[in-house]
Amino acid sequence: MPPDYRIIGFARREKTDESFRQELREALERFSRTKPVDEKVWQDFAKHICYCQGDITDSAAYKKLDQLLRSFGSEPLRYNLLFYLATMPSQFGEVVERLHETGLLNRNGTKGWQRLVVEKPFGHDLESARKLNDELTRYAREDRVFRIDHYLGKETVQNILMFRFANSIFEQLWNRNTIDHVQITVSEQVGVGERGGYYEEAGALRDMVQNHLLQVLSLVAMEPPVSLDAEPIRDEKVKLLKSIRRLTPQDVAKQVVRGQYFAGAVNGEPRPGYRQEPKVRPDSNVETYVAIKLFIDNWRWSGVPCYLRTGKALPVSASEVRIQFRPTPHVLFAAQCGQRLDPNSLTLRLQPDEGITLHFNGKVPGTSVAVRPVRMQFSYNAEFGAYTPEAYERLLLDAMAGDATLFIRRDEVEAAWEIVDSIRQAWDDKPLSNREFYAAGTWGPMAAEDLLAQSGHTWREPVLVK
Ligand code: BG6
Repeated sequence: MPPDYRIIGFARREKTDESFRQELREALERFSRTKPVDEKVWQDFAKHICYCQGDITDSAAYKKLDQLLRSFGSEPLRYNLLFYLATMPSQFGEVVERLHETGLLNRNGTKGWQRLVVEKPFGHDLESARKLNDELTRYAREDRVFRIDHYLGKETVQNILMFRFANSIFEQLWNRNTIDHVQITVSEQVGVGERGGYYEEAGALRDMVQNHLLQVLSLVAMEPPVSLDAEPIRDEKVKLLKSIRRLTPQDVAKQVVRGQYFAGAVNGEPRPGYRQEPKVRPDSNVETYVAIKLFIDNWRWSGVPCYLRTGKALPVSASEVRIQFRPTPHVLFAAQCGQRLDPNSLTLRLQPDEGITLHFNGKVPGTSVAVRPVRMQFSYNAEFGAYTPEAYERLLLDAMAGDATLFIRRDEVEAAWEIVDSIRQAWDDKPLSNREFYAAGTWGPMAAEDLLAQSGHTWREPVLVK
């Protein structure tokens, strides 16, 4: 942290600076990844934390906040302001307006800088996302709005660009000539648990695909940026999102599978069905699973299917990208292996057991000509030790430093909504059919297998280290 800064909690509840600090201290004890907490470091840090009680709908509260900022007696502490809007998105517009009225947020101000940090959901569909973006940028320039997608803060996700563009061997293979298809899996064992209220409005498509999965896909598939600065990287991601082929309702019927879990068992533990979760309608049609086959209509990827899938109450929690290469043109070993010779593949494991594995075939030692898949592996833990910062550590630091590279630009959000809306619209008002349910603890509805089988592919399940 810089030598002089303040962190101000601004909320309705009555708290003192001291009680707010105490709350944070207890949270540190519970959640910090570096324990025990170093008392001296905490004491130094805690001096910078204070609390301002007020209601975000009341102008007087913002005046109080302004007075507090002025009381610090320094220009940077009054004008260099990072507002983290931990509110409902429906309140963003009002908060931003009041900050502006009070002189705390100025679009064209010449004194210092002011930034806004916001979390998803960035709207509900393209139209609402546009409205929200208009509200945010009314009093803050676009380059000062930091939209968080916490997947971009993950080390393994950042490494996708390094891996592709800092190595000469893989990038040469990264195209339709060598790659057969791409699979991106983000599977979770958890159900929706206590988040039923939110999830009923979102569903897997809005909750995971619109942001995390499409972001990962854009990093995997984008063209090399002209530099590693924020804008060139984000320009390439937008270009990629725009080259994803739009789906007509007929395409959605063939290329998208949705599902909802019913009661089952995950890891041997019984689980209720989605419709039995708290705050979920007993006849809900909300999807807890989505699998999509997408095509990217550009020079590099023409004709290569990209499969995305995500779901709750699946057998394992793991996120990975699998690049599957084309099979060898002629099976020399057919007599020994039949058609079973595994095509080469590269797996980028985003979490857990973070690492990269190259799968290829090798001769089994002995006198027979037996061939079987073997692996070459890079593991973060083995290579770098257990030090892996939390995604939010990186993102908050970057927002303070004003580096927007790992944040989502307005046109990215809107391009992603266009894709998601085309799917959503085809589902609207169509109740789930029997084929669209899956038991908790299984890999989604059967239709997801058929989706890949159409092209002779199969899903590869993430394998966890025991
Ligand atoms: C959040 C979603 O954005 O990401 C959650 O709202 C999901 O539903 C979570 O569980 C997954 O994040 P991670 O980091 O655990 O993969």
